[in-house]
Amino acid sequence: MTTGHLRRAAIVVHPAYTVADIDRRLFGSFVEHLGRGVYGGIFDPHHPLSDGNGFRRDVLDLVQELGVTTVRYPGGNFVSAYDWRDGVGPRAERPTRLDPAWHSVETNAFGLDEFVAWCRAAHVEPMLAVNLGTAGIRSALQQLEYANHPSGTTLSDERRANGADEPHDITLWCLGNEMDGPWQIGHMDAIAYGKLAAATGAAMRAIDPRLELVVCGSSNDRMDTFATWEREVLTQTIDLVDYISCHQYFRNDGDLDAFLASGVAMDRFIDTVSATIAHVKAATGSTRDVAISFDEWNVWDYVAHDEIAARGLAWDTAPALLEDRYTVADAVVVGDMLISLLNHSDVVRAASLAQLVNVIGPIVAPEEGDAWRQTTFWPFADARVAAGRTALRVAVEADGCTSAIGAGEPVPVVAAAAAWDERTGKLSVFLVNRSIDAPTTVRVDLSAFVGVALVAARTLTHDDPLAGNTDDQPNRVAPAELPAAVVDGVLELLAPAVSWCVVHLMVDVHGR
Ligand code: AHR
Repeated sequence: MTTGHLRRAAIVVHPAYTVADIDRRLFGSFVEHLGRGVYGGIFDPHHPLSDGNGFRRDVLDLVQELGVTTVRYPGGNFVSAYDWRDGVGPRAERPTRLDPAWHSVETNAFGLDEFVAWCRAAHVEPMLAVNLGTAGIRSALQQLEYANHPSGTTLSDERRANGADEPHDITLWCLGNEMDGPWQIGHMDAIAYGKLAAATGAAMRAIDPRLELVVCGSSNDRMDTFATWEREVLTQTIDLVDYISCHQYFRNDGDLDAFLASGVAMDRFIDTVSATIAHVKAATGSTRDVAISFDEWNVWDYVAHDEIAARGLAWDTAPALLEDRYTVADAVVVGDMLISLLNHSDVVRAASLAQLVNVIGPIVAPEEGDAWRQTTFWPFADARVAAGRTALRVAVEADGCTSAIGAGEPVPVVAAAAAWDERTGKLSVFLVNRSIDAPTTVRVDLSAFVGVALVAARTLTHDDPLAGNTDDQPNRVAPAELPAAVVDGVLELLAPAVSWCVVHLMVDVHGR
């Protein structure tokens, strides 16, 4: 769509100016017992494409193509009323329960052991959340003993009897979920939660000292308690935890300009939490490095509660909830959020796109037919190559575009990140054009690199920024080749309006 005047962006990237090595865990995702995320999503024993474990093979294929590295489970809000013991043991003996978080019936046909088996099949690292809403320390300790202790205790031998002879060896654990949110079952104030998280974490470490613990930060940066919550919780836990979580969902409420500037809000969120970590370290004298686990992030239209209300008092098993269909604009915002994560990879060391399949997911698993990719699949799959590389500082000098973010000040029309591997010479530049009506000429000065050659460039865009994929047209929106060139060490391209762009380059590291 080109109705406005051409914009300009000048970018400089230099191999000597780095942010940090990019942790693989930045490319995690999230599967919750919610709607058709588990049942009908990753697990569907009756589907013709499922394997002997009931895992949908078409979904497994797309999960690997997406490149997900970790998967957080089993919630989300669900975890705060969940008893993990209901989901282990012979399936026929597992209880059926009400899930008050999503007003659904939980059959418990899928639980901890199935999740770990699925993670192995998907080649992803499990990230487990314990219930600190209604269960507490004892349940967390028993779950850990069941999962990680090799053998010789009742719980570890129970796991072995259930078919998992080897310990699950799960090292990444979340101490509850969104405990600051009044909607959370068992919600508590920051001091109470901080004390519970500290006591739970210390006891869990006594069982397994390898654990990496994530304490709950704020559910979003619009919470009344935002920043105070982080300060109070970290004051209780800083010497014990490895991460504090951030959660953030953006939505297009009709103001496309503002929506496309969401990455700026994400930058500010991360900067504020990062400053709060620094404040608590200074105030307590702690020397421990606590990172951010941005373990729920995405675009989401938040219609869940309307959907539940529309179903009245019905209690259904795996009802279709939060099945957002994503547009090109949504994918550009997802790309912008990825750029924000990459540019903060010194402090954000883990992240989870929420969620993975059917439920606000980049993958849709229809009841009949093959799984397919939403628009948001593409920026994630493109950016995933950055895992293990080094994020470079990206200096962007760009025209502004209007936005209602903050006081309505203009934001740069382009956001960008770069990932570099000095051993192989692989260099990738990721960028979004936030303009709703005009392309932007982008010049990326790479002259500090020796012998830069273009490998491939592609973009995700469409004449209609609200276009998306559907069951009938699963490939309506897909990446296309983007004309680009490297001239005298400068990468030149024209980024279409409302677009995600990725450019892969090769630097001659052997000839230097
Ligand atoms: O991802 C959907 C929900 O959003 C999660 O259950 C909850 O943690 C958050 O509010």
